[in-house]
Amino acid sequence: MKDLKLPLNKNEVEGILSQYGSPIYIYDEEGIRKKARKLKGSFSKLHNYKNFFAVKATPTPAILKILHEEGMGFDCSSKTELTIMQKMGITGDNIFFTSNNTSLEDFQLAVQLGATINLDDVTQISVFKTALKDGPLNRVAVRYNPGNLKSGNQIIGEPVEAKYGMTQDQIIQSFNELKQLNINKLGIHTMVASNELIEDYFTDTAKILLDIVDKTEKEAGVKISFINLGGGFGVNYKPEQAELAINKISESIEALLKERDRSDLTIFTENGRYITGPHGYLVTKVRYVMEKFKKYIGVDASMHNLMRPGMYGAYHHITVLGKEGLEPTNAYDIVGSLCENNDKFAIDRKLPEIEEDDILVIHDAGAHGHAMGFNYNGLTRSAEVLFNVDRSTKLIRRAETTDQVLQNVIWE
Ligand SMILES: Cc1ncc(COP(=O)(O)O)c(C=O)c1O
Repeated sequence: MKDLKLPLNKNEVEGILSQYGSPIYIYDEEGIRKKARKLKGSFSKLHNYKNFFAVKATPTPAILKILHEEGMGFDCSSKTELTIMQKMGITGDNIFFTSNNTSLEDFQLAVQLGATINLDDVTQISVFKTALKDGPLNRVAVRYNPGNLKSGNQIIGEPVEAKYGMTQDQIIQSFNELKQLNINKLGIHTMVASNELIEDYFTDTAKILLDIVDKTEKEAGVKISFINLGGGFGVNYKPEQAELAINKISESIEALLKERDRSDLTIFTENGRYITGPHGYLVTKVRYVMEKFKKYIGVDASMHNLMRPGMYGAYHHITVLGKEGLEPTNAYDIVGSLCENNDKFAIDRKLPEIEEDDILVIHDAGAHGHAMGFNYNGLTRSAEVLFNVDRSTKLIRRAETTDQVLQNVIWE
């Protein structure tokens, strides 16, 4: 059973709200560090293993700094994410650049930073070659789309329907061109899982990648030095779900590499959600307790603070602070103030009786949460706070203001 105990107590949460306002995101430094160490420890037997944290999951420098201290690299998908790296002084082999439909400008910054560039399509190669004029590169990868060799899930979709990655023939064609560019290390990447809780899924992905590695080495006459299994390690959002057993994944991948005599291959991943997801909380205050045809709880956060429930019907556990032990006697829809009826954090959720000014804690919001925020209806994104290991707190992102939302408007 999932541990739903909060790392901080009611007084501490109330202190944060009165100091920084509501709603607010709170991240637990200790939880994030422990999770990063667990991942690194579990995969430590694999040759040069490294996780490149998917910056898009939690693009907040204070969080990225913690992960960097824990030995992670970073997977960037855009110029802005690369700029975060640049401002943090992170360069070279610590950056993987996985983007699609990529502009020359983005490639140029990635090359300038010495990132490992991951090509999404054959048509990108000529643009990439232009960008290469800005410097030599240590590592380049190509993204593989296994098509009907692999099925996807609701979040990521079916590979045959996906715009990402290349077919087998396109991979060979790409390496035939890339081998002329004097790049030290070549690799193959794929990302076919999202929020996956079945361990074998990742071993199957590794098998598919090893097959394409063999084929590429034979047919394009290149040496493949690394494979990147993508992100997608899942979070047990529902209390009844078991945590993903990552040691099972690492052990079976280790066995697979031995069996195929490929223990020389470096294994990379680019997990985001698994690391920070469970260690971020969206805390929101109850504004109104309403009864229409159903019971509604209107809170001061909206879908623009956390769009996963509205967008995917994703489950996020909710605790009514201070009422943890009470019977869940009511079924509520927990709603924000956006003019969209899918602006709901939960539907028919059984919770203890809720009153105005109660504080709700929305769990597992630490990845693809604040980051997916938007300004529809002119709503502003919340602040983010770090709950440090020594139980002190630090503001790590200010709340957006109405003036900031309006700053690019031309009034006349
Ligand atoms: C290319 C790529 N890598 C990694 C990730 C991270 O996924 P997750 O946070 O689910 O591990 C994503 C998520 O969208 C992605 O698109």
